[in-house]
Amino acid sequence: MPPTSSAVSFDAARGLAVLRTPNSTYALRVGVDGSPRHLHWGAVLDTAALTGLTVAASPAASSFEADPAPDELAPQTGARFGPAGLQVRFADGTSGAQWNFAGHTLQDGELRLQLTDRHYPLAARLCYRVRPGSDVIERWTELTHTGTADAGPITVDRLDSAAWTAPARPDYRLSHLAGGWNSEFQLHRDRLPVAETVLTSRRGLTSHHANPWLALDDGTADEEHGEVWSTALAWSGSWRITVHRDPVGRTGWTGGFGHEGVRWTLRPGESLHTPVFAGLYTSGGFGAASRAWHTHLRSCVLPAPEQDRPVVYNSWEATGFEVDQAGQLRLARLAAGLGAELFVLDDGWFGRRTSDRSGLGDWTPRPEAFPDGLRPLADEVHRLGMAFGLWVEPEMVNRDSDLYRAHPDWVVHAPTRDATELRHQLMLNFGRPEVEGWAHRTLDRLVREHDVDWLKWDANRGVTEAGWAGHPDPDRLWIDHPRAVHRIMDRLRADHPGLRIEACAGGGGRADLAVLARTDQIWTSDNTDPVDRIAIQHGFSQLFPAQVMAAWVTDSPNTTTGRTTPLRFRFHVAMAGALGLGGDLTGWSEAELAEAAALVARYRQIRPLVQHGRQHRLTGGGGVTAVHHASEDGADHAVLVWRPVTRFGHQPPALVLPALDPTARYLDPDEGIVHSGVVLTRYGLELRLPPGDHASRLIRLRRVAP
Ligand code: DGJ
Repeated sequence: MPPTSSAVSFDAARGLAVLRTPNSTYALRVGVDGSPRHLHWGAVLDTAALTGLTVAASPAASSFEADPAPDELAPQTGARFGPAGLQVRFADGTSGAQWNFAGHTLQDGELRLQLTDRHYPLAARLCYRVRPGSDVIERWTELTHTGTADAGPITVDRLDSAAWTAPARPDYRLSHLAGGWNSEFQLHRDRLPVAETVLTSRRGLTSHHANPWLALDDGTADEEHGEVWSTALAWSGSWRITVHRDPVGRTGWTGGFGHEGVRWTLRPGESLHTPVFAGLYTSGGFGAASRAWHTHLRSCVLPAPEQDRPVVYNSWEATGFEVDQAGQLRLARLAAGLGAELFVLDDGWFGRRTSDRSGLGDWTPRPEAFPDGLRPLADEVHRLGMAFGLWVEPEMVNRDSDLYRAHPDWVVHAPTRDATELRHQLMLNFGRPEVEGWAHRTLDRLVREHDVDWLKWDANRGVTEAGWAGHPDPDRLWIDHPRAVHRIMDRLRADHPGLRIEACAGGGGRADLAVLARTDQIWTSDNTDPVDRIAIQHGFSQLFPAQVMAAWVTDSPNTTTGRTTPLRFRFHVAMAGALGLGGDLTGWSEAELAEAAALVARYRQIRPLVQHGRQHRLTGGGGVTAVHHASEDGADHAVLVWRPVTRFGHQPPALVLPALDPTARYLDPDEGIVHSGVVLTRYGLELRLPPGDHASRLIRLRRVAP
């Protein structure tokens, strides 16, 4: 259903474009020079108020000051000294675009502003979209070389999806996600310096190290209150976002695909379209911003948001590369007994893959491990009532593989440079149509031959020595490769409607709105330690809903951290996402298996709330953090409470639950107690945590008649 026509409008006489979402208004005006300039992004404003607004003027006036009016995409001409979102060079050496406004189109909630260069054969479309029920504004840019066949090429040094502008405020704070392998999605919240702050990935992957999401507030917002402007780039390769706070207090950011130095050649008739850069405004604090993102992902991004994510059992932490049919069957039977709904056979099942040194690229079952192929395992998994999933890493190859021996030229490499191996593997260049075709055929065959319901698509290295021997425009691979990955995923889903895909890149190295448009969940991190996971999950939830956050319960001590934690704590942390099991179940005692089965059953009770409800992050006293999941109608609630470290043996103070209705009453069905909403929202809920470190509780509440 397209949004109502009033959601997006363009007043040609005033050059005024207005986009309305349920809780925000975005407006821009085409300047007298033909360039679209930012006018307003924030609280709902009526047309009269917008008409009275003027584009921001510079508080300083001198020949050294930049053009005062913030651009919707800065074109590298005029007195613009900030980061340029569009950087082009024409065949005669001239750089930058100078626009004429050439009209607009408005259809089904999509506005396109058409710009043409005053001298050169270059056209751009700045595109905007709003969708019903979402506060997100989606923006992207389309650039076209409009010249005749004999015109020279145009070099594109930068094409951002959009530039965003925040209103003048005395101060700003930047929230962003940074980390690394095993430490993804760490939330950083720091004062925005008067400087250009660059968030970027140069790895050809979204990256563990930075995620293309950010939020700005004036330094006073918290989980429940305050204005927040937040954006997320829908791109799975290298990217760059530059946030600019200038000395006279103007704040904006521009971002898009590719890192610095990535260049693209446009020949006559060719176009380059950017990914979507999505943004939202809320006055309800960081919690409301996250919930607005979650709503958007569910209603406009995810392919199957209404489906419950299954309880997965994944064999990686249990068996590593020591994979064979008998061992996997043993684990599958135990997993089914615990209530797992999906069994995923991880790395090590193919080629000569007995370690990470060999086999990648040879996607046929390893005969010593699976003498009759994978079908007997897949059939037994199905007979046990579980779906069957398979790990693949299609973009990668070991030198010690039949694929590499047959096609050494298929890897990303520059012939005169050493090709750096990471985890003993090289990356295939999916920009080459024959490589993309091979990967698609291979995956399609695997899914068909082995009755695969689920693919875990992994990628364990970034791009280095980004060459493409013999290609005149080798930088294309930075964009062509991720696009091919997306295309293959789309084709597989279209041809196998029941197939589900889990996005993984050594954990959470490829988590973004573009990969989630064709996958069902993300393997959040290889770090399954529940204490570390609380912080990882906190960062992840800023943008992504719990439904896509794969979280396994694994063995204790944890393989990454060596930390020993109780099973119940491990479960309670993982139950805040798409619960999975990943330990060596053959080593679990009867008592542990029984406790695990009961906790899986309990997860199934709260799964509708966790996976389809509204999420509120809570911080209590005494080292307690919690996540409150509420059904959309506010009737049912599940609160997962964690206290990693006890202090002084004290009980933590009662946990205030601000998302409840103070006029309602709530039954705790497990304790048989009825609580008053006004007490829970003002004084809080007594937690009565068990003593000791790694204490946790799951509290359920149901609204009852007063
Ligand atoms: C990295 C993933 O994140 C792990 O879960 C596992 O699949 C390994 N790769 C297998 O090599």
